[in-house]
Amino acid sequence: MFNLSSLLIPFFFLVAFFGYTTALTDRFAKEDGSTDHPCNPSSNAYCGGTWKGIENKLDYIEDLGFTAIWISPIDKNIEGDPAGAGEAYHGYWNINYEEYNEHFGTQDDLLSLISAAHKRDIWVMVDTVVNSMALVGPYDQVDYSKVYPFNKEKYYHPYCIIDWNKSDNKTNIQDCWQDSGVLLADLNVESSDVKKYLDKHIHSSVQQLDFDGLRIDAVKMMNESFFPDFVKSAGVFSMGEVFDYDPNVLCDYMNYDIGVTNYVVRLGLNFSFMAHDKFQPNKGFGTLKDQTELMTSGKCSNSDLGQMLIFLDNHDLPRYASYTDDQAIIMSAYSFAILWDGIPSVYYGQEQGFYGGLDPANREALWTSKYDQTNPYYTMIKTIVNFRKQVMKQDSDFTRHNYTIIEAELNHVAAKKRDVFLLYNNLGSKDNGTVYKVPTQYSENEVVSDVFGHRTLTVGHGGNITATLTSGYPMVLYPHTKLSDFRLPTINQTVMPTTAREKTTTVYTSFYSPTYSTRSFHGSQGLITMSSSPRAIPSFETLFFTFVFTALAFILFC
Ligand SMILES: *[C@@H]1O[C@H](CO)[C@@H](O)[C@H](O)[C@H]1NC(C)=O
Ligand SMILES: *[C@@H]1O[C@H](CO)[C@@H](O)[C@H](O)[C@H]1NC(C)=O
Ligand SMILES: *[C@@H]1O[C@H](CO)[C@@H](O)[C@H](O)[C@H]1NC(C)=O
Ligand SMILES: *[C@@H]1O[C@H](CO)[C@@H](O)[C@H](O)[C@H]1NC(C)=O
Ligand SMILES: *[C@@H]1O[C@H](CO)[C@@H](O)[C@H](O)[C@H]1NC(C)=O
Ligand SMILES: *[C@@H]1O[C@H](CO)[C@@H](O)[C@H](O)[C@H]1NC(C)=O
Ligand SMILES: *[C@@H]1O[C@H](CO)[C@@H](O)[C@H](O)[C@H]1NC(C)=O
Ligand SMILES: *[C@@H]1O[C@H](CO)[C@@H](O)[C@H](O)[C@H]1NC(C)=O
Repeated sequence: MFNLSSLLIPFFFLVAFFGYTTALTDRFAKEDGSTDHPCNPSSNAYCGGTWKGIENKLDYIEDLGFTAIWISPIDKNIEGDPAGAGEAYHGYWNINYEEYNEHFGTQDDLLSLISAAHKRDIWVMVDTVVNSMALVGPYDQVDYSKVYPFNKEKYYHPYCIIDWNKSDNKTNIQDCWQDSGVLLADLNVESSDVKKYLDKHIHSSVQQLDFDGLRIDAVKMMNESFFPDFVKSAGVFSMGEVFDYDPNVLCDYMNYDIGVTNYVVRLGLNFSFMAHDKFQPNKGFGTLKDQTELMTSGKCSNSDLGQMLIFLDNHDLPRYASYTDDQAIIMSAYSFAILWDGIPSVYYGQEQGFYGGLDPANREALWTSKYDQTNPYYTMIKTIVNFRKQVMKQDSDFTRHNYTIIEAELNHVAAKKRDVFLLYNNLGSKDNGTVYKVPTQYSENEVVSDVFGHRTLTVGHGGNITATLTSGYPMVLYPHTKLSDFRLPTINQTVMPTTAREKTTTVYTSFYSPTYSTRSFHGSQGLITMSSSPRAIPSFETLFFTFVFTALAFILFC
């Protein structure tokens, strides 16, 4: 069995991710590529996105630089709206593990998407629900024969509804059911029948469909002892949904072979860039510093930050852009999250400046953006992603190191890692220009380029720089000689237009992956080899282990 915590998942993993709690295969693209179909997120109904739709939009994802996508759960879900809680457009209300959600397409469509993605070296991570099956309530009227294969009461934990006020009671959280309008009947994963089926099913599903990674839903609501065997059976990198701000809780899950989403640093980003920490009002970027330190101490002190997903938006949180319409602040926070330690993840719509609030508003249909590849957010994300890819290509150790924060004050932060230097503030577009004198890792007289602002500067005495941030946009520095042969799209911060704020919904994420021609992958602790069985599809045979680590691996650059 492999132990994730001993691996490095390199990072670039942006995920074109549709999916997640409310995922959004349904919201990414229509099969015919049309962009005029209305989709009102608050109707909680299917909007018509499909696997074919995603396949037809792989250019859009590839052009952004993403190397992995995260798609919604694929299993058949509750049909219609029998509980008055909306339709299962997100894919989390599964009723049959052996049939597909036909709203998203056929098995052939799914195979076609995955194979088309692989041809572009884009890996596919599938969201998977193993905590529960969906039953129409109320409890005294549930009909187990409506679900398959767990069609008897005996496959479930005894009925009780989770009481979130008792979150320290594991039995309550892990074994009780959830009432989401439909009842999410809690599978008894401790029983050998259930466990054996789920392990076998995920194994054959990954083999048959050729998935590169799993995102496991509702991990906190499951017995953690379930995961090691499950992940081993899947044989691919697995990321668990652990929606928790406590670093000790997050890092503990990594002992069960799953990567996690870094909510701790996400919180620091949220408050620091918004210059508004309700708990510590005068802290500014000090909050970010505190949060990053939490992730390197306590139970996290030996955990691999490179296996944690770093993000701002997802389908469970109000979009970051819903808190402000200041583009400099939004772009600063988004770019910072793509460059920071971890696997960067972008939720579809960030690249179009979507700003939906709390679920379901954050689930806009991406087609309402007309997939504008000239949008300033799209350009910015593409630039930063390509920059990170270039750094990883030039420095195979980049992802094994952590950033060091040089200064973290109320209004600015400076940080360095290897050859990358970041200087950000939270003053926003109205800032007339603020001068910072900061020490760097560079040597005196070295010429460095600012990827964000397309300008160069010469490092001063003792390695210090004197830098002016204008209009709230950051400075992302890299030695000029290293960057010169790389044509990044130009971001002209002085002409960034204010994006029209139209309401829409969407989702995606992508992770950066390696190329399929490479067969190994460097973890933090060295080269990783997997002992999983070979893949069914010959051309991917040896690939298997590389990509266990998946998509994230970025082998291309190791
Ligand atoms: C949980 O606590 C909140 C706030 O004290 C209370 O309103 C709610 O009824 C409680 N829920 C349950 C299930 O007891
Ligand atoms: C979790 O699984 C273990 C091993 O099967 C079992 O001993 C324990 O009681 C389970 N915990 C809960 C909360 O069900
Ligand atoms: C924990 O929750 C379970 C399920 O609701 C309940 O049966 C049990 O009494 C609770 N234990 C404690 C110590 O409250
Ligand atoms: C993020 O920051 C905004 C603005 O300060 C705040 O309203 C919101 O509650 C924060 N959200 C999270 C999830 O921390
Ligand atoms: C990065 O931080 C993690 C978590 O504390 C730690 O285990 C690891 O050794 C650090 N990496 C380096 C290169 O210092
Ligand atoms: C920018 O300059 C203008 C004109 O001098 C001034 O009114 C405004 O307050 C300044 N803004 C900031 C954020 O310093
Ligand atoms: C560089 O900047 C630091 C921090 O501002 C300062 O303490 C130091 O004296 C500067 N070094 C030189 C050589 O100017
Ligand atoms: C950036 O915008 C400024 C102000 O509009 C303009 O003078 C400059 O030529 C632009 N630079 C590029 C590279 O487009």
